[in-house]
Amino acid sequence: MSRIVHVVGTGTIGEPLIGLFTDFKHYLGIDEVTFHKRTPLASDRARIGHLMKRGAHLCTDDDRIADFEDLGHKVSFGAREALERATVVIDCTPAGNDNKERLYAGLDGPRGFLAQGSEAGFGKPYARGVNDSALVAGEDRFIQIVSCNTHNITTLVKTICDDGDSGYSLERASFVCMRRANDITQVGSYVPAPYVGRHDDPKFGTHHARDANRLFQTMNLDLNLFSSAVKLNTQYMHSIWFQFLLGRDTENAEVEKRLRDNHRVAVTDKHYANEIFSFGRDHGYYGRLLSQAVVVLPTLLVRDGREVTGFCFTPQDGNSLMSSIAAALWLIEPDAESVSKRIAPLRRFVFLEI
Ligand SMILES: NC(=O)c1ccc[n+]([C@@H]2O[C@H](COP(=O)([O-])OP(=O)(O)OC[C@H]3O[C@@H](n4cnc5c(N)ncnc54)[C@H](OP(=O)(O)O)[C@@H]3O)[C@@H](O)[C@H]2O)c1
Repeated sequence: MSRIVHVVGTGTIGEPLIGLFTDFKHYLGIDEVTFHKRTPLASDRARIGHLMKRGAHLCTDDDRIADFEDLGHKVSFGAREALERATVVIDCTPAGNDNKERLYAGLDGPRGFLAQGSEAGFGKPYARGVNDSALVAGEDRFIQIVSCNTHNITTLVKTICDDGDSGYSLERASFVCMRRANDITQVGSYVPAPYVGRHDDPKFGTHHARDANRLFQTMNLDLNLFSSAVKLNTQYMHSIWFQFLLGRDTENAEVEKRLRDNHRVAVTDKHYANEIFSFGRDHGYYGRLLSQAVVVLPTLLVRDGREVTGFCFTPQDGNSLMSSIAAALWLIEPDAESVSKRIAPLRRFVFLEI
């Protein structure tokens, strides 16, 4: 049986995912990559054409096929047929929940469906390296790949606070998520001033801590997390200030060792987001860093033995790409060892140091 990955949406997250699956499909054990694009646009012709040259097959809604053909594209399948023949469907639109209700819930063919960060409630929240043990074969057919900042927050909490058999040593953790205004792929929503967000969640502050808490709940942990958010007038990267109050004593060297020992965390001595971003452009996969978090080591401070403070940067969309690929491979063959083996060629984009 052919193993077909079908990506819905060609935006900031969909486009690199289609590219990654096509470039690495032989290693990943994928036979075919198809993708759905909704809107036919001359301004998108070059990037869609390039994805197709790399081996991906374009699909669209029946009433858009002629428009895509007028742009010079070959349409391989209609939207419905593409969904029915897919082994795994990866929704990369801000309408995953809506698509689940309208389209995916009634499909028997695919082994599973993934949606992205904004689509809470789509299925079990997942971040690679944090709650892999929570995925249940045969049960979790719908999975939500959490947002890039949730990847960062949950990876930090696990790395610094997970004491194995003794559980998580964490009294509380606070985060200030300093979000970049818009991605360099996007042309809207740029205001050249910081924008401070409301604390619209009375328990968690903003959705970032709530989403992280929800992810840990899949492992029966209810952690005391709080977040605030501010949007900054930069396009480079999200940055996060974090402060943990641990339930035991620690020191800088121990925190640094834990961060260095987790190969999904990159550490750095660089203080500027543009330098991290630039490293991604030079060494990442088409500019993406597939690490979960980039922690700035000189910013780490342990106070009074138990309070850990620092700054980190979020490899936005890179960490979600890694989890999307891992979850798709797991849906195809729910065996952790096999997923690790197939994903190994991507490890060169997961950095220990930046
Ligand atoms: N941006 C990031 O760094 C990032 C990181 C992690 C997770 N995410 C998550 O990824 C998801 C997508 O975000 P994005 O930034 O990639 O969005 P985006 O750049 O705005 O792209 C959205 C894509 O979805 C398509 N689309 C929208 N509604 C659709 C529908 N109803 N049916 C079919 N296609 C539809 C659009 O198609 P057309 O343009 O062809 O109309 C476009 O290709 C969100 O859940 C977001 O939270 C984003």
